[in-house]
Amino acid sequence: MVEEKKKRDGFGSKLGIIAAAAGSAIGLGNIYRFPCELGENGGAAFLLIYLLVVIFLGIPVMLSELVIGRRSQSNSVGAFKQLAPKTIWPIVGYIGVLCGFLIFAFYSTVSGWTLEYIVKSVTNSFQGKDLVTIEQEFTAFHDMGWRNVMWQGVFIFLTGFVVFKGVQNGIERYAKILMPLLLVILVVLGIRSMTLPGAKEGLAFLFHPDFSKITGKVLISALGQGFFSLSLGMGVLITYGSYVKKSDNLTSTAFSVVLADTAIAILAGLVIFPAAFSFGVKPEAGMGLVFNTLPMLFNQITGGYWFCLIFFVLLAIAALTSTISLLEVLVAYISEELHLKRQWATVAACAGTMLLGAFASLSLMSNTSFAIGGIPVFDLMDFVSSNILLPVGGVLIVIFVGWYLGKQKFFEEVTNNGAIKASLKKIIFFIIKYLAPVAIAIVFISGLIK
Ligand code: TRP
Repeated sequence: MVEEKKKRDGFGSKLGIIAAAAGSAIGLGNIYRFPCELGENGGAAFLLIYLLVVIFLGIPVMLSELVIGRRSQSNSVGAFKQLAPKTIWPIVGYIGVLCGFLIFAFYSTVSGWTLEYIVKSVTNSFQGKDLVTIEQEFTAFHDMGWRNVMWQGVFIFLTGFVVFKGVQNGIERYAKILMPLLLVILVVLGIRSMTLPGAKEGLAFLFHPDFSKITGKVLISALGQGFFSLSLGMGVLITYGSYVKKSDNLTSTAFSVVLADTAIAILAGLVIFPAAFSFGVKPEAGMGLVFNTLPMLFNQITGGYWFCLIFFVLLAIAALTSTISLLEVLVAYISEELHLKRQWATVAACAGTMLLGAFASLSLMSNTSFAIGGIPVFDLMDFVSSNILLPVGGVLIVIFVGWYLGKQKFFEEVTNNGAIKASLKKIIFFIIKYLAPVAIAIVFISGLIK
């Protein structure tokens, strides 16, 4: 047992955990899902609630996960077995593993699209086309179900390849280099988008809240999006936390990741909405919001060909650092709890995801049979995992830290046994113990009653 512990892979540097956690957080959730959710849920009012969620719930939940992970030095199921032996707490880990499969399944569908769009960029296939044509081509692509499945398979394979190589060589190295570049390109695109004719309306949609738009559905969507975007509630940060050195500052890690993730989401909003309003794409257009608006935007930019190509490459990489974290949770669980070799665990997790994921991809065809009550399996997977399982996981995680693990052990972990001060520890623990469980429960129930 002790022998096995020693061999556990880990992050090599402080920047490593921030880069990996931010790499997990930043992805299609920020650039694709955030604008979709914001557009469908009333714009600025959603943004406001989203910000409250990430600050008051995101940071405490993230810190709780990191504490559980580093203290237990184990995967998301093993962590609870270790810290709460002979209890039912490991169920939180099992929910997370199930949720990981579901998210990876539909997330890899959209990840696959980024590859299709890289090919489209290389072949310059958007140039000179108007919105109607670009929209038609996007729909036509969905109708080629097996082509979607093929790209999805390629993406899952790529993820498996990186995870195969282990934490330090794989995850850390890839995550560290390319994310800052994404930030730069988003800033440039944002500036262009905001200077388009009619862009003001998009900015108003993003920043002038209409409080009458706040409903139970808006609340639960903002909660789900907050958890989704920060990769919370299913054990990613328990797993990554277990690779963190005992000397790292967990609190500042959580703050940095939340800040970076939120900045990228808002930037994505600043790129998408001014342009969408300018081109006449409806804010509630869902998937088309990003995949149709952006090619139109690239058509308006000098050097648009290169911007388009670089953007979709970076988007694919952002998606990859996120799918890596999803797969890592599954592989850590399968290899450590079911005692399969890491390599075989990777193969098993990828194969399972591929099977489930094909349903998600095929459910977006216009004549699909993979829909329940008219709702595509893709949307069901998304809704159940993001808006239900993640908040449930999150609530259980904060209750675990607040009420089971307790203040003393929490303080030991965030102060590295007294070596650092972590001056916000008391207020954060208060939120973990009382505020977060109540707030998540209220939002959750108000959304479900709807
Ligand atoms: N947060 C990622 C994104 O925004 C997606 C993701 C990766 C995720 N790992 C997760 C979401 C774990 C929820 C849970 O794109």
